[in-house]
Amino acid sequence: MARKLTPEEQPWCLDRVTKQVLINKGLENVCMDKSTICFIDGFHSKLYYRGYSIEDLARNSTYEEVVYLILHDKLPTKRELSDFSGWMREERDIPGQVVELLRKIPKDIEPMEILRTAVSYLGNLDPGRYDMSRDGMYRKTIRLISKMPSIVAYWHRIKNGLDLVEPDPRLSHAENFLYMLHGKRQEELLNRAMDVSMILYAEHEMNASAFTAVVIASTLSDYYSAIVGAIGALRGPLHGYANVEAMRQFDEIGSPENVDSWYRENILTGKKRVMGAGHRVYKSYDPRAKIFREYAKIFAEKYGGKVKNYYDIAYRLETLVMAQLCEPKNICTNCDFWAGICYYAMGIPIDLYCAVFAAARTVGWSAHIIEYTADNRILRPRLYYDGEVDKEFVPIDRR
Ligand code: ACO
Repeated sequence: MARKLTPEEQPWCLDRVTKQVLINKGLENVCMDKSTICFIDGFHSKLYYRGYSIEDLARNSTYEEVVYLILHDKLPTKRELSDFSGWMREERDIPGQVVELLRKIPKDIEPMEILRTAVSYLGNLDPGRYDMSRDGMYRKTIRLISKMPSIVAYWHRIKNGLDLVEPDPRLSHAENFLYMLHGKRQEELLNRAMDVSMILYAEHEMNASAFTAVVIASTLSDYYSAIVGAIGALRGPLHGYANVEAMRQFDEIGSPENVDSWYRENILTGKKRVMGAGHRVYKSYDPRAKIFREYAKIFAEKYGGKVKNYYDIAYRLETLVMAQLCEPKNICTNCDFWAGICYYAMGIPIDLYCAVFAAARTVGWSAHIIEYTADNRILRPRLYYDGEVDKEFVPIDRR
């Protein structure tokens, strides 16, 4: 006789104290391990990498130094940083087979899918791809972090029928990316803003993409599969792709005068969500958004035109969000709301923004893979079974 299970028959789903079924939909506030990589205080707008505040790092550090910090759990000496940056510079080249592959992919494929395919192929070409030792994964991390911006730049140039620009080992990570993308060196303000954006995007605790990476790594699969999975997770509009969607939203709004009516028609009616607003962890203003916003303001004042139009739309929309969604629902604008305007000022096409984010975030994903697998336990949660059991199996000719 078919029947439903009682909660007592699934004791792993019961709260130990109340004995009621406890479902953490979306794994909200579930602590799955200890970590020393990143701390977010979502109620007080605080973010730390290895104990250093994001404001300090954005003001005083460089992306290379932050990568070293995240992977080594200490700030480098001058000598260590110089050796480490040198290693990253040597790893920027893309194997010819990957370039050939990029040339064959249809031009309408989305950049995050390009990145996913290219990273997977880089894994195929790595003879040490199954090496899940700490040293092996560390080596692969440097390889990928260094090559991912080159893949993004190459894709941009191939797609647009432009000659490829080889990496320049004299340039910093951020500066080289803009150089490879545009075919010429950029002014200091833009290079520094790219560097800071990469610092801001480098790591963010156990978000959906880091979790995906760790789930895959916890089966002792392989490092590249874990990163490919993370790219797939980041590509969703509720996660990293929000920096692309925020810009499309500003385009849809069109001008600052339209913001209020757009907000009334789309947000107050519940038809749409504000892209680049809300966060599972931040219930206060995202500290990264503040830094991106400062750069967006500088760019709006300096470059005017379309950058200023984006800034003015964003400014008015943020004002409405903070006045109407922040208090009742703790929805504030997040880093993806402002990041795109900075990238736009750097001359980067909108569809590339999430791929730029992914290239910067690979260090965070890698650090979590390395940390979690050092004391590995396969990730395997449970579900509360809400269906029936003991159903009668009816042979197919009697159904
Ligand atoms: N605009 C309007 N309302 C929102 C928004 C938003 N951006 N985000 C959440 N809400 C509302 C929901 O409608 C819900 O309202 P209700 O309680 O009346 O039903 C309430 O706030 C809670 O929303 P949840 O979806 O339960 O929040 P959750 O923590 O699950 O989602 C998320 C977080 C996915 C980021 C969500 O805020 C969202 O969709 N934001 C827009 C996309 C975005 O900007 N993503 C980037 C996040 S940062 C990053 O990943 C790099």
